[in-house]
Amino acid sequence: MYNCGKLNYYHIIMLALSIVFSCFFGFSQGQLMFGFYSNSCPNAESIVSQVVSEKVRENPANAPVLLRLHFHDCYVQGCDASILIDNGPNAERSAFGHQGVRGFDVIDQAKAQLEEACPGVVSCADIVAMAARDAVALVNGPRYQVQTGRRDGTVSDKSLADDMPDVNDSIQTLKAKFVSKGLSDKDLVVLSAAHTIGTTACFFMEKRLYSFSLNGVSDPSINPSLLPELQATCPRNGDVNVRLPMDRGSPQTFDKHILQNIRTGFAVIASDAKLYDDVITRSIVDSYFGPLNPVLGPSFETDFVNSMIKMGSIDVKTGTEGQIRRVCRAFN
Ligand code: HEM
Ligand SMILES: *[C@@H]1O[C@H](CO)[C@@H](O)[C@H](O)[C@H]1NC(C)=O
Repeated sequence: MYNCGKLNYYHIIMLALSIVFSCFFGFSQGQLMFGFYSNSCPNAESIVSQVVSEKVRENPANAPVLLRLHFHDCYVQGCDASILIDNGPNAERSAFGHQGVRGFDVIDQAKAQLEEACPGVVSCADIVAMAARDAVALVNGPRYQVQTGRRDGTVSDKSLADDMPDVNDSIQTLKAKFVSKGLSDKDLVVLSAAHTIGTTACFFMEKRLYSFSLNGVSDPSINPSLLPELQATCPRNGDVNVRLPMDRGSPQTFDKHILQNIRTGFAVIASDAKLYDDVITRSIVDSYFGPLNPVLGPSFETDFVNSMIKMGSIDVKTGTEGQIRRVCRAFN
């Protein structure tokens, strides 16, 4: 009896200690929240929106660029602005898997204004997340609140980007890569539909158009009426930097048209086309086209927002982790 009582007392002490520890740990870990800057920098969100709308007005291509930047940031070491660091040939941003990623100037400009308004407060990682959100809204996509409180990473290394999803990946590989980041098959479909806006370089089309298999044929999943069009834009051995829209027919508006293109063989890049190869991802694509959708059945816009919030919280650093950079291209 006595021993048993002592054990309970001991347990109570341990429980109390673990509560104290988890509170402390919880504090230092923190969590993303809506309006993280509402007291510390009340104009943070409006400063970012203003810069983004100005930059998108100047050049509409900046909208897709900013959306893609957020994905590439979050995928490697979590959403911590590691992709922004410009520290030489081994910088993460120079990785093969980040080819074509741009938008750094927009983030720099927003950061410069934020440092004037509230020095040392707003992280570069949050600027990237807010800018992606603002970019989506500017092309008639869904409007949503973005959670903030991310802190900036202190590591940049291109080998850490070796596992970026690639256009050449099989659907199994794409699914596995997303699962490894806590993203489901549904997130894979819905987030790939970000290709509803923006362009790809012919560089990413070569295999699909001219060397799909050993005998040098094109991907048979390309609709026969699309193939000559793609081959005319991206001729064999042509300029790999020529760009073409990824959502044929609706490249400037954020909508589910890209998913319809995937169903009919009009997907432009191979990874989008592959979403229709797999029974599970295919049924997710189809779910947005049931009769009476979205009155009955899922709403693409709602699902996209939920997946963006999920993507935006991958391995985030919060609380006292990382740092708040003064300049987004360099560690403090
Ligand atoms: C499933 C894996 C994915 C693959 C293999 C992939 C691949 C690509 C490729 C090859 C390009 C063309 C890049 C260029 O030539 O500049 C591209 C562009 C783009 N990607 Fe993805 N992507 C994927 C997922 C995503 C996700 C999750 C998002 C955002 C939520 C996204 C957003 C974009 C956007 C907006 C563009 C257009 C960029 C521009 O116009 O400059 N992608 N993607
Ligand atoms: C896709 O694979 C081909 C070879 O099959 C390669 O030349 C090309 O660089 C790959 N593209 C990407 C983006 O990985």
